[in-house]
Amino acid sequence: MNVQEVIQEMNEYVSNVKKSAKFLLEKVQKPPKIAIILGSGLSGIAESLENALSISYAEIPGFPLSTAPGHKGELSFGEIHGYPVMLMNGRFHYYEGYDMKTVTFPIRVMQELGVEILIVTNAAGGLDPDFEIGHPMLIKDQINFMGLNPLIGPNVEEWGPRFPDMSEAYDKELRSIAFLAAKELGIGVYEGVYVGVSGPSFETPAELKMLRSFGADAVGMSTVPEVIVARHAGIKVLGMSAITDRAVSDDLKPLTAEEVIEAANKTGKQMAKIILRFISKLD
Ligand code: HPA
Repeated sequence: MNVQEVIQEMNEYVSNVKKSAKFLLEKVQKPPKIAIILGSGLSGIAESLENALSISYAEIPGFPLSTAPGHKGELSFGEIHGYPVMLMNGRFHYYEGYDMKTVTFPIRVMQELGVEILIVTNAAGGLDPDFEIGHPMLIKDQINFMGLNPLIGPNVEEWGPRFPDMSEAYDKELRSIAFLAAKELGIGVYEGVYVGVSGPSFETPAELKMLRSFGADAVGMSTVPEVIVARHAGIKVLGMSAITDRAVSDDLKPLTAEEVIEAANKTGKQMAKIILRFISKLD
């Protein structure tokens, strides 16, 4: 592609984002202040949404379509504790073949809708040998090991700076509120660094050893691009991983996606409780 084609492609992207946002703003009663990306096992939180309105991706002009089986592919708008909230059920993973701009398209729509806080959730392998399966980890920082950055390409000045700061990718204050919420509920949470890999193959023991030596505590195949774009957009981020398996190099057992989903479903219930309590504590 030459420069003109690159710019034209970006212009089309911006116009699709704005088209999606305009459509949604006309549909919803109140624009959302909080957006929650529901990772595996988190869909239960939809039950707590009051006055819910669900819109499938296919209905939204300009919005990418999700094709992955078992993924819902819809946005739900409503209220939690009086806060206007948007739930994203079915994210776009890089390993599915979407490019990074498509993976992060919903974050741009959130930005256009005026979202101020993004809560990202995911399933992750525990690199820390002390992590037990089935517990949540609050993400304190991340490592982009996906090989790409979603901000590569022409910068849209209206959306954020060319070289965005990442010194506090995961908001300290939001994290301490989430900690307090978990404590009040009597739910133990870990805290750690999330490293994002492309997948879809799980890691070899040698790779796990490397990722651990980087200083990461959990590994997964999502979240990192979304958080980079959210920070570029000036949206504050709270992140939580469900530790679904032991990703420990000298103690590695064969792993299947089914095991991950089962553990995520269990942990997701606790994470949903923490998120609801977290929202109730926001002022
Ligand atoms: N590795 C990568 N991604 C994951 C894992 C893992 O062990 N568990 C859940 N998602």
